[in-house]
Amino acid sequence: MGVFASTDDPGSTGHEQVVFCQDKQSGLKAIIGIYSTALGPALGGTRFYPYASEEEALADVLDLSRGMAYKNALAGLDLGGGKAVIWGDPEQIKSEALLRAYGRFVESLAGRYYTACDVGTYVADMDVIARETSYVTGRSVEHGGAGDSSVLTAWGVFQGMRAAAEHVWGAPTLAGKRVGVAGLGKVGKYLTGHLLEDGAEVVATDVNPRALEWVRTTHPQVTLVDDTAALVASDIDVYAPCALGGALNDDTVPVLRAKVVAGAANNQLAHPGIEKVLADRGILYAPDYVVNAGGVIQVADEIEGFNFERAKLRATRIYDTTREILRLADDEGVPPAVAADRLAERRMAEVGRLRTIHLR
Ligand SMILES: NC(=O)c1ccc[n+]([C@@H]2O[C@H](COP(=O)([O-])OP(=O)(O)OC[C@H]3O[C@@H](n4cnc5c(N)ncnc54)[C@H](O)[C@@H]3O)[C@@H](O)[C@H]2O)c1
Repeated sequence: MGVFASTDDPGSTGHEQVVFCQDKQSGLKAIIGIYSTALGPALGGTRFYPYASEEEALADVLDLSRGMAYKNALAGLDLGGGKAVIWGDPEQIKSEALLRAYGRFVESLAGRYYTACDVGTYVADMDVIARETSYVTGRSVEHGGAGDSSVLTAWGVFQGMRAAAEHVWGAPTLAGKRVGVAGLGKVGKYLTGHLLEDGAEVVATDVNPRALEWVRTTHPQVTLVDDTAALVASDIDVYAPCALGGALNDDTVPVLRAKVVAGAANNQLAHPGIEKVLADRGILYAPDYVVNAGGVIQVADEIEGFNFERAKLRATRIYDTTREILRLADDEGVPPAVAADRLAERRMAEVGRLRTIHLR
């Protein structure tokens, strides 16, 4: 399988299609993973990363493309799940020829896969890729793109957090609650603004002095703590991981004082089983891929011709989806992460099945 040297078997992972792309002259080695097109063309970004091996690149694309299918399904999009990885150091090998070669491979899938930005790729890269394919979104504003996706990501996280607050405390507001924001980057900054506006008290941390300076100047009422360890151990009601993945791990979960976790970071659960530890400690975890879907909602909207108000309305519905998941979790006696997966699988099966009704 594959044009490189892989011995792995994507068939056993449930993926529809895995495409190995190579252009020796430009140095392109890419893998496009399409997990599901049950709901529509697969959408997911391109990660450009110096993987240690082809196996590592393959494992990542298989994992990420599956995650996108679930995320897109719960975001209510008519899009399936896919992702691509370009194997190599973008600092060393990224070039016009490489990106355009990649664009031609995307085009060759004839719309089964739409690409967008991810780690190591930027809107400017999407503009280059778009010179070879129409199946690309997350483009620059000059090219009809929507621009910074963190605005709607933060809005969606805030909506998911409101639903979690309602589930635990009875009202869909963070007013009077202490919310700990770990990571004051693009999303964390906007989220802090929404929380303060809603009447929450914000405690925050970041490793970047510029981010701390920003908050001191813009929102002097925010309490800053030294690091994430101090934040999770402090007297907070809600924990919002907005930095890196793996925030909910064997060090943080046992000491976490918050009753709710809802944040933007991807892959917050450090390992399988940690969601059960959270549930056993009475901590409500609003699944990351549900609440942080505002960004993908934005790039998906761009495919139709971007309309901010329409996209914002869709991101607002993250409140309803989170509510539904939390109720389902209670009804079925499972952690919210399991309930979210079940709901996504249900939509893929129920709506995907409709393709069997022949139109002509
Ligand atoms: N931007 C989006 O639209 C979007 C969409 C979905 C998910 N996410 C996820 O949300 C998270 C934040 O995204 P972003 O766009 O704001 O990224 P960003 O890089 O702008 O911000 C991350 C912030 O976290 C800080 N940070 C890093 N390590 C830290 C640590 N150990 N403790 C405290 N702070 C630390 C960084 O200094 C930075 O300010 C990421 O995990 C990202 O994958 C973002």
